[in-house]
Parts: sequence; C-alpha cells; structure tokens
Amino acid sequence: MSLTIILGACWGDEAKAKIVDILAEKSDVVVRFQGGCNAGHTVVHKDKKYIFHIIPVGILYPDKKCIIANGVVINPFQLISELEDIQKQNIDVGDRLFISSQAHITLPLHKFLDGLSEKKSKKQAIGTTKRGIGPTYSDKFARFGIRVADLLDPKYLYLRIDNIINNKRSQIADWLEETDLEDMKRNLVKIGKKIQHFVIDTPFLINKYLNEGKRVLYEGAQGTLLDIDFGTYPFVTSSNTSIGGAISGSGVNPRRIDKIIGVMKSYFTRVGNGPFPTELKNEIGDYIREKGHEYGATTGRPRRCGWFDAIIAKYSAMINGFDEIALTLLDVYSGLKTIKICTHYEIDGERVDHFPIVTNRLEKVVPKFITIKGWNEVISNIKEFSDLPINAQNFVHIIEEILNIKVSIISVGAEKNQTIYR
Ligand code: IMO
Ligand code: MG
Repeated sequence: MSLTIILGACWGDEAKAKIVDILAEKSDVVVRFQGGCNAGHTVVHKDKKYIFHIIPVGILYPDKKCIIANGVVINPFQLISELEDIQKQNIDVGDRLFISSQAHITLPLHKFLDGLSEKKSKKQAIGTTKRGIGPTYSDKFARFGIRVADLLDPKYLYLRIDNIINNKRSQIADWLEETDLEDMKRNLVKIGKKIQHFVIDTPFLINKYLNEGKRVLYEGAQGTLLDIDFGTYPFVTSSNTSIGGAISGSGVNPRRIDKIIGVMKSYFTRVGNGPFPTELKNEIGDYIREKGHEYGATTGRPRRCGWFDAIIAKYSAMINGFDEIALTLLDVYSGLKTIKICTHYEIDGERVDHFPIVTNRLEKVVPKFITIKGWNEVISNIKEFSDLPINAQNFVHIIEEILNIKVSIISVGAEKNQTIYR
C-alpha cells in the first residue's frame, strides 16, 4: 500500500506540478481530487513546457494511470480541448485516463455567474479565475449539480439542466438571452459520448489500485490558504484544498495515507484579492516577480510577492500534517543581499504567534521579521545540498527548525533535474 499526497501549503502556485512530475515517475497512478480549471499546473518535461488545468500531470508518462476523482469540478469543454492538445503532442491517453462518474460539471452558466458576482461584488470581489468554480461547487452543495454520469444519460441530463435553469432563471436572464440552450444540451451529449469510455466509479478504482500495492500519488490544486474552511475566507477558492479534500474528494480513508508532502515556496505569492501580511509592494517584490516568472498560468495576472511567512507555514503544517516539505524556487533569491523571514505578527502592539484565521484580524497584523544574509551565486545547477552557498543552506535550516519538519526536496529551477534531494 502506498499513497503519497502532495498539497500546496500557501496560496497556490507553489510549483506543485514540478514536484508531482518528479514523483510521478516513481508512481503508478496520479490523482486529481479537487479544484477544476482554476488550477494552472506548469511542467517542463523533456524540454517542453506544458500547462494542465484539469488532467493530472502524470499523463506525460505513457505508463501512468491518471484519475480525475469525484471532488474535482470539470468543465467538459475545457476537458475536450485539453485532451485534444495532449493528443496533438502525440501523447496517447488510451485506456489510462479515468474520470469520476460523480465529478460535477461546470456549465457555461457557471462561468457567467462567476463573472457576474465578481462584477457585482465590487470592492468585495475575490479576484477569481472566472472559471466558474464557485458557482459549480455552490450548485453541488445546493443539490442542483450535474455530474459526469449525467452526461451519459441524455434524458436525465436534460431534466437536470432544466432544473438548474428553472432555479436560476432571473439570475441568468442575460446569459439565457444569448445562449442556444438546445445547442448546449446537444453539445454536452456529444461530449458525453466522447468521454464515456473514461468514466468510472473512481472510489472503487483507487481503492483497488491501493489494494494491489500500486503507488498512488495525489496532485493537490490551489493551496491551504485558499481552502474554503481554513483559508483566508472569503478570499479563497470553493473547495477543501487541504488534506480533508483529498479524503472526501477521492473516497479513500485516512488510514491509507503514507506520506503527505507540503509544497512551499521560498517566498510567498498570491493572485487575486485578500490579505497577504508579508507582501512586498516595492522593488524587491518586483525583482522576485520577474525572476520567478510570477504571472498566473491560468489568467496571466501578475502575482503578488512577499517574504516567507513562518506563521502561515506552521498553520499549514498543522492543518495538513506534513511529513516532509518540498521547498521550491530557492534559486530566485540569488542576488539578494538580505532575505527576510516573518517569524511572528503583532496586532495592536501585542505579539501573535498563531495564524489569525478570521480575515479581518489577519488584515490588522504587522509582520515581524528576522533578516538573514543572502547569496550571489547562481544555484540552479547545484545537485547536492552541501554545495549550496552557506547562506542558502542556512535559510533551509531555519525553515526546518521553525517547522520541525524535514525539507526533503529543494527546487532550484523549472527543469526536473534542477532539484536537490536530501
Ligand atoms: P494552482 O493549482 C493560485 C485563486 C484565485 C482567487 C481565488 C478564488 O495553479 O495552484 P477561484 O477561481 O478558484 O474561484 O478563485 O483562488 N486561485 C488560485 N491561485 N493558484 C491556483 O491554482 C488557483 N486557483 C484559484 O486567484 O484568488
Ligand atoms: Mg496556478
């Protein structure tokens, strides 16, 4: 039995996909369990750059099975276009992609509603990816949702679509006016036919693989600070991005988990709105953004950049129970004279050592830092920890001490071989 779970520890974009890509090589099965096309998972594989939104990164290996499990929300149109893109790259999907019959479907009206609520919310807008994620999960929980299995049963699908439309008619009047509903329904049925051979009851499949001793790897999307329960609500996504989502999103029980790896950036970033205590709105933030290519893989938006925040890292480790840390983008720091790490906060002059979960308290914090020496050397070709500049080693040691967790993987570049294992 072997189940390894990879989770984002921060606000997403931690370079999870690179770590998944590395570990996928030694796995048999790769599983996505939450989120949808809001994810932008970038990997450089055999000198080629790929961006995945919905299909697990493991698809790049011809011998790996890939599963889109029940907790994911799927835009069927995006799924088809991603499948076509992959096939164009001569990657044979064949009989190794599986899609959960229970996964919920993002309809064009969900995208419309996402855009509409962002517009209406004005200053309270979340800064979503506008992929319809929130409205799809809302409908799942409101029990209006349409699931992958429904695409394979046209009569039932039509009933479900009519139900959702009847319930939202006034909200989506503008969308209805410009939409040929019958055409949309027919297209969904067509997509159902195209994907029917991928569709399966994935909880049984994943448990079967585990029973057979297959090595299963979970590919988290977004990050813990975007979790609907534990993140910086309301500036979050609409799924459980932390460990609980891996369980409910796939149908395995927690006793089956062998290892949970938290992916953390050496600095922090976030896209969209919401509090970000260590944000650098200055030339250092700009330096990190340019050097780290910190522009959204899904929306192209510039990412907000800031120092490593140990309060958030500790909180994330507590929620998820990380066994190991993969520390990414350490190379971006080369060239900075000094580097800061936030060790605690102050609110109204009082020291705060725990993450203030309630957002309006988090907005008030003043981050307090330690400053360490930086390094000038380019480190992207270093393979051994002991070959890193001593100040870079020091940075890693401080993070390990703060978290009391081993940093087992250090990423020093986008390429797979630009990685230090410890
Ligand atoms: P990966 O998997 C970074 C952010 C959006 C917004 C908030 C809500 O690539 O790390 P949503 O569209 O989900 O309703 O937007 O969540 N967000 C992400 N930020 N990486 C992601 O995915 C994200 N997916 C959503 O910017 O702030
Ligand atoms: Mg992203």
